[in-house]
Amino acid sequence: MEQPNTDPLAPRQRRLLVTGARGQLGVALQEAFADEDVLALGHADWDVALPAPELPPLDLILHTAAWTDVDGAEADPQGAAAVNVGGTANVAALAVPLVSFSSDYVFDGRKARPYVESDSPNPLSAYGRSKLGSEAVAGADAWIVRSSWLFAETGHNFVRTMLRLGNERDEVAVVDDQRGSPTYVGHLAAATRELVEADRPRGVWHLAAAGDCTWAEFAEAIFEAAGVECHVRRISTAEFGRPAPRPAYSVLRSERAEAPELPHWRGGLAACLARLL
Ligand SMILES: NC(=O)c1ccc[n+]([C@@H]2O[C@H](COP(=O)([O-])OP(=O)(O)OC[C@H]3O[C@@H](n4cnc5c(N)ncnc54)[C@H](OP(=O)(O)O)[C@@H]3O)[C@@H](O)[C@H]2O)c1
Repeated sequence: MEQPNTDPLAPRQRRLLVTGARGQLGVALQEAFADEDVLALGHADWDVALPAPELPPLDLILHTAAWTDVDGAEADPQGAAAVNVGGTANVAALAVPLVSFSSDYVFDGRKARPYVESDSPNPLSAYGRSKLGSEAVAGADAWIVRSSWLFAETGHNFVRTMLRLGNERDEVAVVDDQRGSPTYVGHLAAATRELVEADRPRGVWHLAAAGDCTWAEFAEAIFEAAGVECHVRRISTAEFGRPAPRPAYSVLRSERAEAPELPHWRGGLAACLARLL
């Protein structure tokens, strides 16, 4: 008689849930964990502001679903909080080990050296406050991964916007008085996997690309690497005039001895463009 091809004594494959699965980080995490049993739920599958639908037993949740419209959050802070704080509380209520993603915008940017995990947050914007609120409700069994200036070959991000504008115009005006670490989602997803696999202690972890730059410097690097002829006119945050205040300086580094290290942002840009162009 034919034997069943599953060994009942073999360890069960780990089952992961990715929330916000159609977002840029959600897509990258599915790729980084592709050899596992991944349940990928997009916004239409589970609006995290509502309690969870019926789910199979889970071993790990990678929670990326978030209100990420920083300026829109100023106009609707309660809407942003419902998703970012209420949504994270709904995810934490599942009582499954959790990676919850947070942001450099929890800091006010008044520091002149990289922010480490023990620095005090002081968000300037409604979005930043909602992400800090999400950290508070993620629970004791969560890794809270703060990252910054995410970009990818998919979704809405600065790299894709610059490539579009650079091909349409001779010049773009870009802010030159905000400094951060642009982080490629593929590198963040790999570092997240490293954190989980090594079963590092729960709590806050800063995982961002090495190196730092201003948005204008990043735009110039994008045009140079992509061979796009477009001049970057450096402007101030005040000239750009956005509703939400942003930290002038939000470079993240980890003070934890065993933190996964991410490549330099220029390496992230090269990896992204290699898949995009
Ligand atoms: N982007 C950055 O620069 C940055 C920097 C630091 C930290 N982070 C954090 O990193 C995480 C991932 O960000 P990302 O850049 O991948 O964002 P993203 O591309 O905007 O993806 C977020 C996803 O969440 C979904 N979503 C929004 N509201 C939802 C809801 N109520 N229920 C379920 N899903 C919902 C969105 O779906 P729809 O588009 O259909 O609404 C989208 O697919 C977030 O926690 C973000 O705060 C981002």
